[in-house]
Formats: sequence, C-alpha cells, structure tokens
Amino acid sequence: MAKDAIKILVTGAAGQIGYALVPMIARGIMLGLDQPVILHMLDVEPAAKALEGVKMELIDAAFPLLQGIIATTDVIEACRGVNIAVMVGGFPCKEGMERKDVMPRNVPIFRAQASALEQHAAPDCKVLVIANPANTNALILKESAPSIPAKSITCLTRLDHNRALSHIADRLNVQASNVKNVIIWGNHSSSQYPDAHHAIAITSIGEKSVKELIADDHWLDTEYVAFVQQRGAAIIKARKLSSALSAASAACDHIRDWVLGTPKGTWVSMGVYSDGSYGIEPGLIYSFPVTCQKGEWSIVQGLNINEFSREKLDATAKELVEEKSLAYSCLDN
Ligand code: LMR
Repeated sequence: MAKDAIKILVTGAAGQIGYALVPMIARGIMLGLDQPVILHMLDVEPAAKALEGVKMELIDAAFPLLQGIIATTDVIEACRGVNIAVMVGGFPCKEGMERKDVMPRNVPIFRAQASALEQHAAPDCKVLVIANPANTNALILKESAPSIPAKSITCLTRLDHNRALSHIADRLNVQASNVKNVIIWGNHSSSQYPDAHHAIAITSIGEKSVKELIADDHWLDTEYVAFVQQRGAAIIKARKLSSALSAASAACDHIRDWVLGTPKGTWVSMGVYSDGSYGIEPGLIYSFPVTCQKGEWSIVQGLNINEFSREKLDATAKELVEEKSLAYSCLDN
C-alpha cells in the first residue's frame, strides 16, 4: 500500500540552501524513494517572487514523489500540519558582522516560528535548525515552544561530521563511506571539536582505528581539527557565499538517520539538548555522537575522553553558554 505523504517545512526556501534542498527532498533523498512528500516552503516577503519561481521549477521537474507544494510568506500557513521542519531562514551574518550583531535579529524570527510550530505543526514534528548560529537559534526555538518536546528540536552539525569523514578518507585514500564514527562536539562554529579518536576506517588491510591507520596524533589533534573547523570559512572565501549543496545534503542525512535509524555500529553527530552527558551543561543545544532508532536519538555513552579532548569539549561549551546569555538578553528586550 502506498505510504501517506509526509509534510516537510523548509524556511528560507528561496535561498541558496533551500534551492539545493527542496529538489533533494522531492527526489526522495531525505526520506526514501517510496515516501511521498508535500513541501511547505516559507520565505520572507522580499523573496516571494523568487519563491514562486522555485515552485514553478518544482512543478516542471514532475517529481513522482512530490504530492503537493505550498509556497507562502505566511508562517502559520507554512507550519500547518508539518511533520518535519527544516529551519534554513534567518538573518544572515554579513561581512564585517559578528554573531552578537545578528542575534537580536534572529531571536524574534525564531520566537515567531517556534510559536507557529507549537500551535500548528503535527504534535510529533521533528525540527532541524540550520540557520546560524544554529545551536543557539535551536535553543531559542526550544525555549519559546515549551510544549514541543526538547527531544524534537535539533541543529545541524552533520555537515561538519561529513567534512570530518571526508578529510580522513582523503588522508587514507579511501572513500568517505569507508570511514565512520568521527564526532563533532559542541557548537557549529570554529570552536567545534572534530574528534577522530574513536573513528574507524576500512582499508585494504581491513577495519582498523583511524588513530592506528594514520599514526600521527599530532596531525589529528592540530591540522585535522583546524581544517574541519575552518572549512565553512574556506567555502565562503572561495564561493563568496556559504556552503549550500553540502549543507542541503547533510540536512537530508540528518533527517534520514533520525527518522529511519543509523546503521548498526555507526553513530553520527547531531546538535541536541544536553542531558548533562560528558559533563556538558544541561539544556544547551550541543553536538554529541548519537545513534537513532525508531525516530528517537540517544547520545552515545561511555566514550573515553582524554585530557586534550576534555579541554576542547569545555571550550566549545563555554562559547555556547556565552551565546545563550546573549540570546537571553535579547529575549528580555
Ligand atoms: C558552514 O559551515 O559552511 C556555514 O555554516 C558557514 C557560515 O557561517 O555560513
């Protein structure tokens, strides 16, 4: 029997990431080739014409799985009945601006969207925040929508996770699909900690720990970390625009694994609320290693954290605490 369509909200749908993401969703890359979808696309009034153009292209592509399209600037219409919400739209950090400059602009956007989701989305709606600062925007959304379970609100660090896999794969001269169990800890910012201490790779000599295969702890703790931390900035420098296709692809990976489950023996990185695991302040939206089963994520427990890693986990948590207090000061206004 054919499955019922799943309604997926994409905010900022006429933007760069949105334009890359909506055809991936409509082709079945996010939820599978047997899963019909209805796209709810939201953007701001100045982008309304461009959004209409994206809708026209989606129609012209005649995607077999795409059962309906809503393209709107009305947040309530956009959120009505959605099962998955991918929050791409936010006030962008333009050249010369810092996060603290965009926070006062993003707080009202995420508050309004939080209350629209709370009142109009499906009760079990899964939320993924991509707009930067992603962890703190997700935190604002969580705090502004108390009736949405905290477990349903996440942010994207899968892009960093995928970058971390690919960089190891490049060094070992294997496919990225032959590397697994890297970890992105913390903030989706340059304070994140890409940790390869627990990673595994399959090479011509079989499955082995990445530490053993690379046999260069100095590279793993310095150049490797800096490469992944700075990759977003390197793309902005090259494209004069933020990453878009890789962000859209990572968003599909994040939702697919959350809904359909992570492969056995594999974890992925997701920004989720901290329950205090690994000594991280409870309530922060922090990137942890997680496994997913039956639509629920759980933080991988019991990994050994050495002194070097401990410092890195704490440094990125500290930045998130600072972002949180900045966001709270905007909430008070
Ligand atoms: C990325 O990681 O590519 C982006 O989040 C960078 C940015 O600041 O837009």
